[in-house]
Amino acid sequence: MPRTIYYTATTLDGYIATVDHSLDWLLSRHNEDDGPAGYTDFISNIGALAMGAHTYEWILAHEQGAWTYTQPTWVFTHRELPRVDGDVRLTAADVAQVHAEMTAAAAGKDLWVVGGGDLAGQFADRGLLDELVVSIAPVTLGAGAPLLPRRLELALTEVARNGEFAVARYDVVR
Ligand SMILES: NC(=O)c1ccc[n+]([C@@H]2O[C@H](COP(=O)([O-])OP(=O)(O)OC[C@H]3O[C@@H](n4cnc5c(N)ncnc54)[C@H](OP(=O)(O)O)[C@@H]3O)[C@@H](O)[C@H]2O)c1
Repeated sequence: MPRTIYYTATTLDGYIATVDHSLDWLLSRHNEDDGPAGYTDFISNIGALAMGAHTYEWILAHEQGAWTYTQPTWVFTHRELPRVDGDVRLTAADVAQVHAEMTAAAAGKDLWVVGGGDLAGQFADRGLLDELVVSIAPVTLGAGAPLLPRRLELALTEVARNGEFAVARYDVVR
């Protein structure tokens, strides 16, 4: 069965960005794309992406307009955001409806909830989040965009080191 995975980097104190949406604490750190829970294997089995508006806007601002994802991507927003040259679908539809559309588009591959944390929580609220994969950077921020602002029970399935990061994989226990 395809799985819906929240795959992200986080600080040790549970933030995925600073309060002003900076990832400076993350981008300077070393990890291996081919290492444990690395990006190469992960993205090769992803068939569709979901992200919130702030995550999309961060990508637009930092990739100079280039859209590197080949998979269909749903961007949750109530606004009309800039378009890119890629399969990006702006939506304010119900999360369960979007999940069904993503599953159909992914044709048996996994779904990636890119972030932010509350959007991942919205999938979890509907029983639609299967797995959490976090790469924990050796830094604390004290404040920022939260990793996953919900109470969820998780089962640890893997721990590893990848470069400067501690990597942990969890199943969401329903
Ligand atoms: N560390 C990492 O690896 C990592 C990974 C992903 C993201 N990030 C960063 O983390 C930060 C996340 O920001 P964030 O926590 O504010 O989250 P976000 O999910 O990126 O953006 C939140 C916005 O998404 C829209 N949204 C969310 N749920 C919606 C729904 N059900 N229907 C319609 N629109 C919905 C709303 O935007 P509107 O106001 O447009 O309606 C909301 O204000 C960003 O800076 C991002 O770059 C880091």
